[in-house]
Amino acid sequence: MKKTKVILHKDYQISPVDPRVFGGFLEHMGRAVYEGVYDPQSAHADADGFRTDVLEAMKPLGYTAMRYPGGNFASGYHWMDGIGPKAKRPTVRDLAWQSLEPNQVGTDEFAKLSRQMGWTPMMTVNLGTGTPEEARNWVEYCNAPTGTLYANLRAENGSPEPYDLKLWCLGNEMDGPWQLGHVPADQYAIRAQQAAKLMKDVDPTLELVACGSCAPDLPTYMDWDRTVLEYVGSYAEYISLHRYVGNWKGDTADFLAVTNSIDQQIEEMDAVCRFVQARNRSKKRHYLCFDEWNIWYRARKAEHMNGRGTFAPHLIEEEYNLEDALVVAGFFNSFIRHADVLKIANIAQIVNVIAPMLTRGDDLLLQTIYYPFVIYSQRRAGISLQPVVEGPGYESPSYGYVNEIDTSAILGDGVLHVFLVNRNLKESALVEVQHPGGQLTGVTSAEIISGTHPDERNTFEQPNRVTSQPFQAVSVRDGAAQLEIPPLSVVAVSFTCA
Ligand code: AHR
Repeated sequence: MKKTKVILHKDYQISPVDPRVFGGFLEHMGRAVYEGVYDPQSAHADADGFRTDVLEAMKPLGYTAMRYPGGNFASGYHWMDGIGPKAKRPTVRDLAWQSLEPNQVGTDEFAKLSRQMGWTPMMTVNLGTGTPEEARNWVEYCNAPTGTLYANLRAENGSPEPYDLKLWCLGNEMDGPWQLGHVPADQYAIRAQQAAKLMKDVDPTLELVACGSCAPDLPTYMDWDRTVLEYVGSYAEYISLHRYVGNWKGDTADFLAVTNSIDQQIEEMDAVCRFVQARNRSKKRHYLCFDEWNIWYRARKAEHMNGRGTFAPHLIEEEYNLEDALVVAGFFNSFIRHADVLKIANIAQIVNVIAPMLTRGDDLLLQTIYYPFVIYSQRRAGISLQPVVEGPGYESPSYGYVNEIDTSAILGDGVLHVFLVNRNLKESALVEVQHPGGQLTGVTSAEIISGTHPDERNTFEQPNRVTSQPFQAVSVRDGAAQLEIPPLSVVAVSFTCA
């Protein structure tokens, strides 16, 4: 069996892990809202029409920041369509996904749901077809005390107290030619600057996310970000990045190495932030908001993205497999290793649309990627440690050299959480975890996600093929730990430590 040594020095601390890295994203598209979280016809519906089975299943994921209402949808959305008595709300055409939007869920329903679920709402204003003033009015509706037009409207709609929503995105993917209202960088930046100023004039305590590059392969990558930061930098606290990955080549080992390129994307975005800060001789440091990330490639043809004028169409409903679960773990490893620069991340999305769970009628299926999210999220409190890995690796044709064992670690209060992905497709790995500067004293919990084939997946008929299970093959001796990790698996272990 091949051996890997993982060295996690107690004093080599990167930064506290921001809990908002375990965020989600709920877009009005496909069956994410309707038939996803909201379905008054369902046997599981609560008094407000939300599906209790879906919401219950989300609890172990511990979502923090929840981005809403899009996505591409946001760039054509007029928030006033989604307030007031439901029977009077207009049904409109959503051009982003060519679907029908009946506006039965809007700001008030989302704010209430967020409160119920413990989410931090992360609102995306429309900078595609909307105006800076519309964005400003939305902030007033959500956050101002009563006494003025939009705040009074909120009170009339049942909420005299402000919602106090602090985190706002200045549009969505405005660098993408597919985006409603897409414009060159400087035009977006001016629009965003105007909106940001008005929004902060209404509520100076807002935290704003400027639209950064939504994919490293766009021709404007980096130039876009530089321009945006130059214009909007004094108003925005964060710049966004997005990433969807896929096993297009049908080569699992290559796909599992994609984490290299996620590391690279984060580091490049951080580099542009530092460049602009340095050039402006500014004290303000911008942080990264990875507000869309996931695996998305099978359900990505034109037919998967066009609702053909219908309500709640089946759009981009990826079915996830075991290798995808390993890649999700890889995203988290990368996020944790970059805890000093990455402060928010949102898996896209949370139900039905490229999501950890799928509904079918009143049934609910937990997909493979649900499980890594849970086992990381439940161990997220603490400071990220800089891992050193000594062991075998391989050269990936697309992403370069990677270790067979991909890892990250979080040091909590008397506990060290260690995450390990064995990328080897056939062989188990013998892993020794050392903790210089401290010592491991025992194991409090350990879980594994594994399987026999990279394409193994859960179905409504066989829902438990790939789940997380207690992991037994771990022992602690002389302050260090030994683990035997099967091929193609993700392990999360919490050690007590001194
Ligand atoms: O998450 C699906 C879509 O992917 C979002 O609407 C858009 O922002 C991105 O292109």
